[in-house]
Amino acid sequence: MANGTVTMEVALKALGIGWGDEVIVPALTFAATPYAAVAAGALPVFVDVEPRRYTIDCEQLEAAITPRTRAIMPVHLGQQMCDMDRVMDIAGRNGLHVVEDCAHAHGQQWRGRGAGCLGDFGSFSHQSTKILTAGEGGTLTTGDERLARLAHSLIDCGRPKDAGETEYTFGANYRLGELHAALLERAIERFPAQQAQRAELGEYFEELADGIPGVRINRRDERVTRWSFYRYIFTISNDEFGGAPNRVVAEALEAEGIPAEVQYPPMSRYDLFQPSLSRLPVCVEHADRLDPSRMSFPVAERAGEWQAVYLDECVFRSGRRGVEQAVEALTKVQRHAQELRE
Ligand SMILES: Cc1ncc(COP(=O)(O)O)c(C=O)c1O
Repeated sequence: MANGTVTMEVALKALGIGWGDEVIVPALTFAATPYAAVAAGALPVFVDVEPRRYTIDCEQLEAAITPRTRAIMPVHLGQQMCDMDRVMDIAGRNGLHVVEDCAHAHGQQWRGRGAGCLGDFGSFSHQSTKILTAGEGGTLTTGDERLARLAHSLIDCGRPKDAGETEYTFGANYRLGELHAALLERAIERFPAQQAQRAELGEYFEELADGIPGVRINRRDERVTRWSFYRYIFTISNDEFGGAPNRVVAEALEAEGIPAEVQYPPMSRYDLFQPSLSRLPVCVEHADRLDPSRMSFPVAERAGEWQAVYLDECVFRSGRRGVEQAVEALTKVQRHAQELRE
């Protein structure tokens, strides 16, 4: 498909989700996840994330379910995967669909099963910075033949998938061009070696960075049986960094030549979801989860505005020396933390 946003919109539409339905989304993700719910006509209901994994908090997820809830969209963020055992258990007990946002998780596996193969649908992005890229593009996976045919029709202007079939859907053109597909076919051949290299160097980074004062390494869950990531997110203690927020630390790392950034603000601050732009109705049962002025997501807010620093995947494809340079830069920035204030 054209990108990793319409993939999720199509997944929800294929599942029959739309007007009046609610879809639960984590409060720390890229705009595309909740945007896809809005594009399908549903309301995204935000839920805070876990403090160590920055993925959806399953206790709060369960508490957010109402009779209108139809789906959960877990996002495998950074180097982590959501607790898919719990997500699938909650979905099963409440009759909900699951659309996994795997834009960061090409190649990850949970208990031997690939990210994107656990829910009804898995959505992948091939946008220019992603670890499997064609400049733009998206892939939607499903193990259900009927859903696959529906999705195929939805992205092809509603036409039936195969000649001779008569079932039309209310679709549009979300197709990927063949040139992009050709690029992806070659990129996927290189992917396994790159994934193995990133995983090995990710472990090396954790070994070296663990002792740096004020740096917390968020290790992956042991149920992640193949590790693959797009960004590596670590947590800083602001006191140990002279009171500086994550953005300043990322800028200092950049100045040292290490590709680092702060990716997502919490959904309570996200411009796109301010009611004046989103036009989301806020006078509903979940006003405290839909109206940014009333939302409170302490973990996502602390992560997004203060503590989460994202390292680019290329740090983990530049050999052991590249990782050592990243750790040296982080150590240097921490030692000179007082200067960050200035
Ligand atoms: C978590 C997440 N979800 C969805 C997307 C959307 O993908 P795309 O840019 O291909 O629409 C992205 C990245 O861009 C992302 O990081």
